[in-house]
Amino acid sequence: MKFAVVSLMPEMFDAIRDFGVTSRAFERNLVSLTVVNPRTFAEDRHGTVDDRPYGGGPGMVLKAEPMLAAVAAAKSAVGGSPMVVHFSPRGKPLDQGMLAEWVENFDEMVLLTSRYEGLDERVIESVVDLEVCVGDFVVSGGELPAMMALDALIRLLPGALGDESSKNDESFIDGLLEYPQYTRPETVGGRGVPEVLLSGDHKAIAQWRQEQSLIVTQRMRPDLLDRRGLSDQEARFLDTASQKLE
Ligand SMILES: C[S@@+](CC[C@H](N)C(=O)[O-])C[C@H]1O[C@@H](n2cnc3c(N)ncnc32)[C@H](O)[C@@H]1O
Repeated sequence: MKFAVVSLMPEMFDAIRDFGVTSRAFERNLVSLTVVNPRTFAEDRHGTVDDRPYGGGPGMVLKAEPMLAAVAAAKSAVGGSPMVVHFSPRGKPLDQGMLAEWVENFDEMVLLTSRYEGLDERVIESVVDLEVCVGDFVVSGGELPAMMALDALIRLLPGALGDESSKNDESFIDGLLEYPQYTRPETVGGRGVPEVLLSGDHKAIAQWRQEQSLIVTQRMRPDLLDRRGLSDQEARFLDTASQKLE
């Protein structure tokens, strides 16, 4: 998959290229990343890309012309028909389903990041296909949100993970959170490991994990269960499990 990012802080993306799962995907040529700095397109020798907001108020706004030129350069760097995504607190909440859809439908993407008070609205109106938000909080720039999306997207590319099955066995894939995990030693501070995980009975382990996923999701993120729905069997299981706890 080909990505181009528009960012005033291109060096931040070295972290994606240089570390962990994502760096291996670059080594395997599964992914390419161009970072375009809008300052390259500034009209003055100081590289000015921001100006005061019309109507007054605090902070600065990213100017339309250098941002539009940077998006055009990013689009031509990836070629094809990329989707242009702007990271913004007002965007749609980014989730696993959205990321999976992008991987399925796009070979090229442009990720547009802003800083300061944000981007001149006319850039959004003219070149942005979708705005996404990574959580109900404000960070100083779109770089970290874009890096989160890039990392999550790259994990989904065939060949990116050492064990392909692990991406189908993770939180959010089936609308549920993951079951609890344990590793050696068998006892830590007096706490053991659930018997079934030591039994070698793969069917029983799979069932325990599915049940634990349901319990954890109900406890931590009941909103996910509301969205996903439950089979009759799952609903009966959760009913019995909560009666046992009462
Ligand atoms: C300091 S923020 C601007 C916040 C903006 N004035 C507002 O109140 O919505 C600068 C930039 O960081 C990025 N950003 C901040 N929080 C974000 C979030 N939760 N999700 C996605 N991008 C975010 C956006 O690109 C935003 O334009």
